[in-house]
Amino acid sequence: MVWLPGVDEIPVSVALDDGKQIKITVCAVGDMTKEMAKCKEGDLIGLRGPFGTQYEWEKGQKLALLAGGYGSAPMYFVANEAIKDDCKVDVFVGARSKDHLLYLEELGSLEGVTLHVATDDGSEGFKGFNVQQLTELIGEGKKFDQFFACGPEGMLKAVSGLSSEHQIPSQLSLERYMKCGYGLCGNCTVDPLGIRLCIDGPVVHNDVCVKITEFGKYHRDDVGRKVEF
Ligand SMILES: Cc1cc2nc3c(=O)[nH]c(=O)nc-3n(C[C@H](O)[C@H](O)[C@H](O)COP(=O)(O)OP(=O)(O)OC[C@H]3O[C@@H](n4cnc5c(N)ncnc54)[C@H](O)[C@@H]3O)c2cc1C
Ligand code: FES
Repeated sequence: MVWLPGVDEIPVSVALDDGKQIKITVCAVGDMTKEMAKCKEGDLIGLRGPFGTQYEWEKGQKLALLAGGYGSAPMYFVANEAIKDDCKVDVFVGARSKDHLLYLEELGSLEGVTLHVATDDGSEGFKGFNVQQLTELIGEGKKFDQFFACGPEGMLKAVSGLSSEHQIPSQLSLERYMKCGYGLCGNCTVDPLGIRLCIDGPVVHNDVCVKITEFGKYHRDDVGRKVEF
């Protein structure tokens, strides 16, 4: 949880942690993130955490990582760590257009990582969704042990469907409105399971995701009102 005194506190993923520095990547979409974008070196911010679940793999696994938008940031961290465990990693970075692609250079420079790029408008890489690229590769006989995904819920839903269809386990990072971040306020619970995504998530296994009836349909705002995707 990242805090700017006098402004707000929001959940943000870790993009890199090498024991000396923690890196985060923020998209300036609203009050807090636009204020963060104005921060200069030396300005103070508060950090609480880390909270919640993380992606898990076994040594030497073949992993497909799907990233949409700033989802590239945590996926860069995952790729970095997974290759240390001798995993073979294919990363599928997707975005609306070329200008919204993140972490391509960093991901492309990692040994053991194969990078695939997709844009909705075809301005870079494959024209279409990154999940289509993965579907095509699987159709060509490429084998994976797990899928990991972080990005818009529509993308997560598509990965969940592919995971169920091919019976390949997946772990998906679900975003809900978070306040306390450690299980007290109940703002991040999902229907009908009532699990709190700040502690039982944000990374949720697909066998649990498929039981969340609001998955891909709606989420709740800061006062618990339903907001359709
Ligand atoms: C687990 C998790 C990891 C995230 N990682 C990142 C990241 O690495 N980089 C990044 O840019 N963004 C990340 N986000 C989203 C980020 O928290 C919101 O974009 C941010 O809170 C927007 O705040 P704002 O005040 O600038 O915008 P606002 O105008 O207040 O909100 C814009 C939208 O952001 C969402 N939002 C606002 N406050 C929260 C909150 N407290 N909890 C959850 N969603 C909120 C709502 O959907 C809202 O409609 C993550 C969210 C979650 C739940
Ligand atoms: S954010 Fe408070 S319970 Fe999850």
